[in-house]
Amino acid sequence: MKITKASHSNIDQVNFDNLSFGTLFSDHMYLCQYKDGQWQEPEIKPFGPLNLTPALHTLHYGQAIFEGQKAYYMKDGSIAVFRPEMNAKRLNHSARRMMMPEFPEEWFVEAIEELVKVDQQWVSQKDGFSLYLRPFMFGSSEFVAARPSEEYIFCIITSPVGPYYAGNVKVKVEETYTRSVSGGVGSTKCAGNYGAAFYPTNEARKEGYTQIIWTDHWNHELVEESGTMNIGFVIDDTFFTPPLSDRILAGITRDSILTLLRDNNILKVEERRIKITEVIQAAEEGRLKEAFGMGTAAVVSPISSIGYRGKDYELATPTDGYAARIKKALNDIRYGEVEDPYGWMYKLNPVHSL
Ligand code: COI
Repeated sequence: MKITKASHSNIDQVNFDNLSFGTLFSDHMYLCQYKDGQWQEPEIKPFGPLNLTPALHTLHYGQAIFEGQKAYYMKDGSIAVFRPEMNAKRLNHSARRMMMPEFPEEWFVEAIEELVKVDQQWVSQKDGFSLYLRPFMFGSSEFVAARPSEEYIFCIITSPVGPYYAGNVKVKVEETYTRSVSGGVGSTKCAGNYGAAFYPTNEARKEGYTQIIWTDHWNHELVEESGTMNIGFVIDDTFFTPPLSDRILAGITRDSILTLLRDNNILKVEERRIKITEVIQAAEEGRLKEAFGMGTAAVVSPISSIGYRGKDYELATPTDGYAARIKKALNDIRYGEVEDPYGWMYKLNPVHSL
């Protein structure tokens, strides 16, 4: 891998006390090009513009996929990335469905490792901070014929992020628009899934909500996801979350939380189809203890209110509740406050002194 270092670092211009998610980027990026049927020699180079044609295939047909993950500064002074092999696998799941070439998993993990090492001073030591990693791939052929791109670019950029605070998340149960359909691309992280969500989310915002609870495309009866996150409900002593399917993203945070809940006997866990009417009934009967989204950016995003057919159902978001406990349990592993019994933290080795 060719590594070209930036002549100067921009880190001095960053105000770590006032970071807005994903708007500032570290000094370097990773690039690898696919052409002639194979991935070429990758490189790490200074972050900067790509020189691209207006006939860029992805601008016309949207063969574009991405991942999201984070690198953490741990208590023992090492830097580690959370479950990078899971992101590598999921990227390739997205790639297959979008008719794009798979990126070798070991290259993916090596790419993350080398890039984070080059920009290691961007992994803040401050409490709750991390370096958000954004791997993505897009069709880069120069043609507008409606067939798969022949060339692709795989790139990783990184962005320092602080503790995520979404405030009170008021969600609206969406019964008009649909995020994904059976046989569709809902289980992939293709760019279009996110772009297509902006309009319905904005409509919900106009009504005073911050996010949407997506429901199934047949009858809008079954709960699927919340905003860009997986969703779960604490009803009585059980955590309910919809099962994975081709309409739901296999969240790595979701998987990690289910593992922690099960192994630590925090709550019973049921992965099953959940009707929104069940959730509303539980809320009316006072059995809906908490509800929250699960994702990379916010980790756990507690829901304070669910809007359904014109009525808002208020929910508790206790600071010592389940959502808070689960977030802490996960973050304790990520920041090395406790043992990592699952081997989730991929430590960069060797990490040079900062
Ligand atoms: C997540 O954290 O769940 C995301 O996918 C966030 C990203 C779309 C910014």
